[in-house]
Order: sequence, then C-alpha cells, then structure tokens
Amino acid sequence: MPAFAAYAPGKAILLGEHAVVYGYPAIAVPVNQVEARATVQADLKAPTGRFWIEAPDVDLDCDLQDLPERHPLHRLVQVVQDHFGIARFPALRLRIKSTIPVAAGLGSGAAVSAAAIQALAAFLGRPLTKGQVSNLTFEVEKFLHGNPSGVDNTVVAFAQPVFFVRDQPMEFLSIKEPFSLVIGDTGISSSTANVVSYVRQCWSSHQAYYESVFESIGSLVKKARTLIENGPVMEIGPLMNENHAQLQKLGVSSQELDHLVEAARKVGAFGAKLSGGGQGGNMIALAAAGQEEKIASALRSAGAKHTIITTVR
Ligand code: MEV
Repeated sequence: MPAFAAYAPGKAILLGEHAVVYGYPAIAVPVNQVEARATVQADLKAPTGRFWIEAPDVDLDCDLQDLPERHPLHRLVQVVQDHFGIARFPALRLRIKSTIPVAAGLGSGAAVSAAAIQALAAFLGRPLTKGQVSNLTFEVEKFLHGNPSGVDNTVVAFAQPVFFVRDQPMEFLSIKEPFSLVIGDTGISSSTANVVSYVRQCWSSHQAYYESVFESIGSLVKKARTLIENGPVMEIGPLMNENHAQLQKLGVSSQELDHLVEAARKVGAFGAKLSGGGQGGNMIALAAAGQEEKIASALRSAGAKHTIITTVR
C-alpha cells in the first residue's frame, strides 16, 4: 500500500515580527535543518471514516473523533475536506513527526499543518500548489493563533526566503551572497498566540507609540531587503541589533533572550535578535563564514538548550 509523504521546514523571522501583524513588512527564511513530516496511508481494514492519527512527539495515537472538539487537527481535516468538497476521507492513518521545537518561534505549528495538508491532498490524488498549501495552512493558523499575519504559513509552504506584507502578494528574495544564521533556543516555551495578543492589548492602549515602533521596524526591514539583494549582506547585522532593541520596547524580549543575544554579539556575531513571537523561544545571530561553530558554542555556554546553524541561500 503506497504511503504519501510530505514535509515542511522550520522557519526563522530575520526581521519584522509583530510589526508584520499590523501591515508592516517582514523577512522570513526557511530553516531546513528541522522539519515536520507527514505520511498518509490507506487503512483497508478499517471502517470508512476511520481517521487514525499517530503523532508520537505529542503522544497522540488515536482516532480523530477521540480528540477534543477544539483540537487543531479537526480544523485541519475540515479545511482540506472543504477545499476538495468531500464529506469525509476514506479510512486512513496519518503519521506526523517533527524535529521543530514546539512553541519556540520556529514555525512548528505551521510546518506540521503544511506537511499534513500536502500529504492528505496527495493521498486523495489531488496534489496542491504551494500557494494552495499556504492558504489552507493559513486557515488552520487563524484557528490556532487568532490573528496571524500569514508570514509563517507562507515561508514554510514555499520553503524560500520571503519579503512579506500582510494581504499583499508575497515576494521571493533573491540572495546576493549566502549567509549563515546561528539559532539559539532559550528552552522556554512561549505561545505565539499569547504574545501576539499581549502586543495587541498594549497597542490598543498606546496606539501612537506602538505604531511608531512598528514603523521603525518596517524601515529596518526595507533596508535589510536592499542589503540581501545587493550586498553587503553582513551590514544586516546592525539592523538586526536595532530590531532587537525595538522588540524590547514592545515588551516581547526576555532576560534569557537578551542574555543569548549579548553572548552572540560578544563573540563576534554581526548582529543578533530574538526571532518569532518572543518572551521565550529562539534568537538568531548573523555569523561570518567560519565563525558559526564559535557562536553556537558561546550560545550553549550561555545557556542555550539547542543551537542550529543554517545557511540562507
Ligand atoms: C510569528 O512567527 C511572527 C509574529 O509576527 C506573528 C505573526 O506574524 O503572525 C509574532
């Protein structure tokens, strides 16, 4: 019996998180060293409608029907069924495995959804375009996060660096010189939905101030785009530092993130900042060629639970 497999990478926001929710641009890149993988196989012995889910990373081994009503997998399956106009799937087994840390700002939820949506569509013999995968993943993201910008589903579905503005056609970035990022995990899990809603509350009571911070972040993103496309790419470093300072003003950094950011700068990173929702999760540092291991090791000595080295190309 053939199995239909699909995968989606993790992601890092290079610059522009949070401001992107309010219509300012962001740059996001895939992180191919981690991934979510979904496999779908027909279950010929099971009664029609049986939808078995195995997700050992989160201790799931059960029928979809046994999951609580608000479980995001219900939404995911409904989104795919609605897209194809089917009332139910033939009996199947969906297996999900992911190496992307959960609630860490690396796009784990979006990648799991994108991989599962693609695998389910392939199982039906109706493969989706990357744009369709992104749109359907966005529907699940809305259910999970309330008010996502759409950047996470876009970068994981297309698996390419993107310049993203909410509700506008996404643009791929052409990278002049490949560059390395070192990613450091505080090990503190943080729900993006909660941090986005915290920023929303602060924004509602101090709108002018928050808009001015978002605007500054937006202009850093535009400068970074020019450097990525024309070089010299290492000059993005100071823009990342400035972006981190703006994120601190929004109240989305933390002692642990600041500590790792400092540790990376101390050993020569061109720039460093938190990445993703913040208040925990991961930070990123821009490294000169050959310096990646040194920065990763400094991050681990400073308390990072994991480090990843990735090249953006
Ligand atoms: C999360 O990866 C990025 C945020 O800007 C939220 C979003 O864009 O939906 C914090």
